[in-house]
Amino acid sequence: MKNSIAVLTGAGVSAESGLGTYRDNGGLWDNYDPMEVASIEGWMRNPELVLNFYNMQRSKLKDVKPNAAHRAIASLQDKYDVSVITQNVDNLHERAGSSKVIHLHGEVTKVRPEHGRYDRDYSESEVFDIGYDQVCLGDKAPNGSQLRPHIVFFGEAVPKIERAIEIVSKADMVLIVGTSLQVYPAASLYRYAGNDTPIFIIDPAELKLSDRRIVHIRENATSGMQKIVEMLEKEENFTTFAPAK
Ligand code: OAD
Repeated sequence: MKNSIAVLTGAGVSAESGLGTYRDNGGLWDNYDPMEVASIEGWMRNPELVLNFYNMQRSKLKDVKPNAAHRAIASLQDKYDVSVITQNVDNLHERAGSSKVIHLHGEVTKVRPEHGRYDRDYSESEVFDIGYDQVCLGDKAPNGSQLRPHIVFFGEAVPKIERAIEIVSKADMVLIVGTSLQVYPAASLYRYAGNDTPIFIIDPAELKLSDRRIVHIRENATSGMQKIVEMLEKEENFTTFAPAK
């Protein structure tokens, strides 16, 4: 059986493709108030503003390509059972060839009908792909309700978290790439890794990490992933990477 790797990614993995992160200087949340454009309350107050925000994300995504980090993550599939668990709403992991991708916070290229406050009642069969098209107020789903972005807004539950926890808890290695680990429950996912499971985090920023299991590779996603690939080529036995007791 192949060793399994859970790869937890955030906006930093797509930064070198030209998509901005959220919380770095000049990031999206410097220019937009997340409570206005990405929360359930914001949607209830002003759905047009929210639709326009995600229309903008969709059209940016159309013009960018996966980078070497996305491709390196996909290449690990040749030898390992790789599950990508991403907070990103872009489709760059899929476009780089990753076959198992869980989007914890939804997907910007998909929409679904609105089901009223908190939207707990949607089913996967109602979600559909709109690619890079724009969505306007008044655009309706087949059931007659307004289309909304297939995004987990702030204030909503994260339906895929249970599946993600299961994957991380069984993984032989956990790789974290480009996330500030500030948004829960995604930020605490790595804690479900086994005590002897090696955990690497690739991020150029200084991070305050209290978990002794984590090895911080302080680099951009592309060069950091290159290091991981080289390391795995030399040493396939994951127990070598197990955290010191
Ligand atoms: P953040 O913007 O919070 O964090 C981005 C991380 O990427 C930071 O730690 C940066 O240091 C790092 N970074 C920047 N450039 C990088 C590079 N070239 N290579 C590697 N890392 C780099 O983004 P997330 O942690 O993904 O949710 O944000 C989590 C969630 O907050 C998002 O999914 C989104 C946002 O609000 C929703 O909208 C629901």
